[in-house]
Amino acid sequence: MASSLSSISSSHSPIKPSLFNFTFKPKLTKTLAKTLIKPSFPILRCSIISRPQYIPNHIPNPHYIRIFDTTLRDGEQSPGATMTAKEKLDIARQLAKLGVDIIEAGFPAASEADLEAVRMIAKEIGNNVLENEYVPVICGLARCNKKDIDAAWEAVRFAKRPRIHTFIATSEIHMKYKLKKSKEEVVERARSMVAYARSLGCEDVEFSPEDAGRSEREFLYHILEEVIKAGATTLNIPDTVGYTVPSEFGQLIADIKANTPGIENVIISTHCQNDLGLSTANTLAGACAGARQVEVTINGIGERAGNASLEEVVMALKCRGEQIMGGLYTGIDTKHIVMASKMVEEYSGLLVQPHKAIVGANAFAHESGIHQDGMLKHKNTYEIISPEDIGLHRSDESGIVLGKLSGRHAFRSKLLELGYDIDGKEFDDLFWNFKSVAEKKKNITDDDLIALVSDEVFQPQVVWKLGDVQVTCGSLGLSTATVRLIAADGVEHTACSVGTGPVDAAYKAVDLIVKVPVSLLEYSMNGVTAGIDAIASTRVLICEEVFNASTNAYTGQAVQRKFSGTGASMDIVIASVRAYVGALNKLLGIRKPKVEEYAGTEAAQSL
Ligand code: KIV
Repeated sequence: MASSLSSISSSHSPIKPSLFNFTFKPKLTKTLAKTLIKPSFPILRCSIISRPQYIPNHIPNPHYIRIFDTTLRDGEQSPGATMTAKEKLDIARQLAKLGVDIIEAGFPAASEADLEAVRMIAKEIGNNVLENEYVPVICGLARCNKKDIDAAWEAVRFAKRPRIHTFIATSEIHMKYKLKKSKEEVVERARSMVAYARSLGCEDVEFSPEDAGRSEREFLYHILEEVIKAGATTLNIPDTVGYTVPSEFGQLIADIKANTPGIENVIISTHCQNDLGLSTANTLAGACAGARQVEVTINGIGERAGNASLEEVVMALKCRGEQIMGGLYTGIDTKHIVMASKMVEEYSGLLVQPHKAIVGANAFAHESGIHQDGMLKHKNTYEIISPEDIGLHRSDESGIVLGKLSGRHAFRSKLLELGYDIDGKEFDDLFWNFKSVAEKKKNITDDDLIALVSDEVFQPQVVWKLGDVQVTCGSLGLSTATVRLIAADGVEHTACSVGTGPVDAAYKAVDLIVKVPVSLLEYSMNGVTAGIDAIASTRVLICEEVFNASTNAYTGQAVQRKFSGTGASMDIVIASVRAYVGALNKLLGIRKPKVEEYAGTEAAQSL
């Protein structure tokens, strides 16, 4: 997939490759040589990027960096980020549009629902061959035990390019306290399970020594050598607890590259957690030191403080790869980044902070007078990448103001301006929803539109649809609500309830219809626009009162799933009920896993 014309700034004097403090010599490419001669003004770089042929253990182009996206696995492990199979499929489709090389679609042994979601992605996305023969590899995570590996293979084997990713911890602290295994036992387990994965017919097997960042070097070289001999094709080096700093992580990769027998026959990968806020820097340091696969997530979501974010790593490589990283590049079509970010934000319920690099709402906002003056004179004074590169279009250039007379064309242009690439039935439904709001509200702002898209497009599969809501409330008596919901078979159900306020009454009426006992964990509401006719946007987080579990990949413990929902309306009670019904739909959309089948099993305990 080609990344076409992209503007970059080279207004600083070239940084020596001592950016990361380990031995690394970038090749003096033609572009780099030109930059060294004329470093003082922005240049336009036109690069035709070709994706090398996919061979599991070899990349024909030495500068190509494979992007391994783990939003659907490590990302989904973030608290509250549970996604339904349909949501995962939508995200996987968007990841394929972006051109990620490998999609880690989940941890199939976590539950039956997880296995089915990975299988669905393998079947649909993993067989959809796009331009230039590109089809993403579909990967499933497995601990080093047969049961997990069987589940992973059962899920990914339907893809054109299936991969099993198996891991076991190698740091002293993990082996002693978590695994309660000796080094020899860990090596034997790793070796035999990689061989087992290969014996199933899987030709693409990734191995991760968990907590490699805190593992003893000589032991790492040894276990990696053994799994290479057993058939591993990618060796992933996780900084599981985000403990290392860039020079250290780069050196770790360089040392592994220099000291592991057989390493030249496999791909080295990075997986950097963000506990010290260094995940992107560590990932780039790893790539500069010889890693040719980087594991990342959209918006940087993931366990605890998250992972290296795809958009940061990819844009850093696009912006500076040629100049200071020896010509490293990716196959990502960056204009799909914004849509991917918004989709993951909505489906995971994890909001992107406004000042987040690349995709935050303020990433291209210029507030101070000095900056605005500079921008008016030349955009590259304060912008090192242009919004268009990631799929945003500047609103001040099109000048579209939406109102009740706006047509489909203006509406679509405005959506594209905001980075939303929506078509088909979703676009039609959204357009009619917009029209009904525009009847009541004179000007529809960007924030209104974002709320409408969230309400209409990024919703789970409908099990219950909201029909009507009627409430009475105030200081004279109890709040009461009547709610009408429409079931999947089209039958209408109506219930009434009282409550401490109108939202409480309405939620109780919904409960009387849906009959799934849940706890409301979080509720929040924003008036997204100024003025009395603002559109209110509500988010809720719920969990089932009975234990609805998935298995945590690292601990083997069963964890309670949490489900988020969003709703928007000019009426705050309707927005609230929409969000609640959305979260319930999500919960109902995930088939209850057979807890006894995985959690607390021999496999879980043996690790
Ligand atoms: O953080 C970690 O160690 C992981 C591995 C399974 C790659 O997620």
